[in-house]
Amino acid sequence: MFLLPPRASLSFHLTSLGLIIVIVGGCASGSEEELPSSSSGGAGTGGQEAVSGGGGGGGGPQGSGGAGGSGGQESEGSGGGTSTGSLPSLLSETGLFAGADETLEEGVFAFTPQFELWSDGADKRRWIWLPPDTQIDSSDMDAWVFPHGTKLWKEFSRDGVRVETRLIQKSATGSWSMVAYQWRADLSDAEAVPDGVSDASGTAHDIPEKAACAECHARVDDRVLGFSAVQLSHQDEESGSLTLEAVISLGWLTENPAPITVPGDDTERAALGYLHANCGHCHNPGSSVSGQVPMYLWLNVNELGAVNTTQTYLTTVNASLTKGTGPEGPTHRILPGNLEKSGLLARMESRGDDYSMPPLGTEDTDDTGLQAVQDWIMSLPTGL
Ligand code: HEC
Ligand code: HEC
Repeated sequence: MFLLPPRASLSFHLTSLGLIIVIVGGCASGSEEELPSSSSGGAGTGGQEAVSGGGGGGGGPQGSGGAGGSGGQESEGSGGGTSTGSLPSLLSETGLFAGADETLEEGVFAFTPQFELWSDGADKRRWIWLPPDTQIDSSDMDAWVFPHGTKLWKEFSRDGVRVETRLIQKSATGSWSMVAYQWRADLSDAEAVPDGVSDASGTAHDIPEKAACAECHARVDDRVLGFSAVQLSHQDEESGSLTLEAVISLGWLTENPAPITVPGDDTERAALGYLHANCGHCHNPGSSVSGQVPMYLWLNVNELGAVNTTQTYLTTVNASLTKGTGPEGPTHRILPGNLEKSGLLARMESRGDDYSMPPLGTEDTDDTGLQAVQDWIMSLPTGL
């Protein structure tokens, strides 16, 4: 049906994830999944340790800070680290497809964010379902609150092999549950794999274990990352994907936004959008990561008047690094016109160590994303 270009692979460090389970089981009573915001505490250790580090000492500088930190993490269920909790064990029971021919269940809509997360070249498809006659509370245009019962799915194919479909679902009491389903070889159905799978289905793609979902999704208030005002503000209606306009016409929003445009020329927009989708879920003021690194890469609707009013610009351009230099010796987050001294780039070029950004979900560097950020750095006026 919808063919997307091949790419993909999520890598997860099982040791650190193992720890998560222990931590969650130990201190988040009744919480079936989701890591509390303290997770990001693992500053020093960098990357993956975001999670394990924080657990130990109640978190880094700002253990409590977490965006979703406050409530959110709740999640009904068994408390076991590896069960599917309240979620079905088969994808066919989740309400995505109506039948074996994969027609969508009534009320399910495809969507595509205008800026995508790099997953080592995986091809992805995404869908959303809202319970009938419900609305998304859009009174905060940057943090939509979804109705109870909402479901979103995301499918990953790698090198032409359909590997997994992920589900996040908001329960009747407002807690979120998340799990991935691995496709059977004959594609007859997909089975929940709460423990994750490395190099799944003969590909280099790693399916993250359930506990890892929260490392990215639990750092914004209502968990959803790619179905937002900024991300749907595109004209791409191919394959019937929902746009912001379409969402408005469906009557899904309690408040309708004016048209939203990411500022700048193509170079600037590409860089701002890339950083939003690939980094903003951790690097935003509500995330516990902000306690360690006050650098914000999430685009907020009310800051989109100009490139230099975005938090992305304000907290990176000409800003010194706070976490030390890497092997390449950069001095700044972004130093205009200077690729070697721009730490953002050095982090993006790194893979498989504590210095790598993002710290999980990818094993291969993203050449297109790197190019976008390089072009932006070279286009910035120097000598300020
Ligand atoms: C490395 C960070 C990361 C991890 C780990 C991660 N996700 Fe996501 N996920 C994202 C981002 C960013 C988006 C939105 C951008 C996109 O889809 O390209 C997203 C999108 C989704 C969507 C579509 C709805 C939305 O929020 O936009 C679903 C469903 C989803 N993820 C489920 C999961 C599940 C289930 C897990 C764990 C098994 C998981 N994700 C692990 C970062 C992550
Ligand atoms: C899963 C959460 C997460 C994601 C996603 C993420 N980061 Fe980070 N980032 C962190 C944490 C935690 C730290 C602090 C620990 C460290 O220095 O490694 C950090 C630190 C940094 C620093 C150091 C800043 C300084 O002042 O020294 C840079 C630069 C950075 N990240 C860039 C990025 C970029 C660029 C992306 C996206 C391509 C990204 N990060 C995605 C969690 C994340």
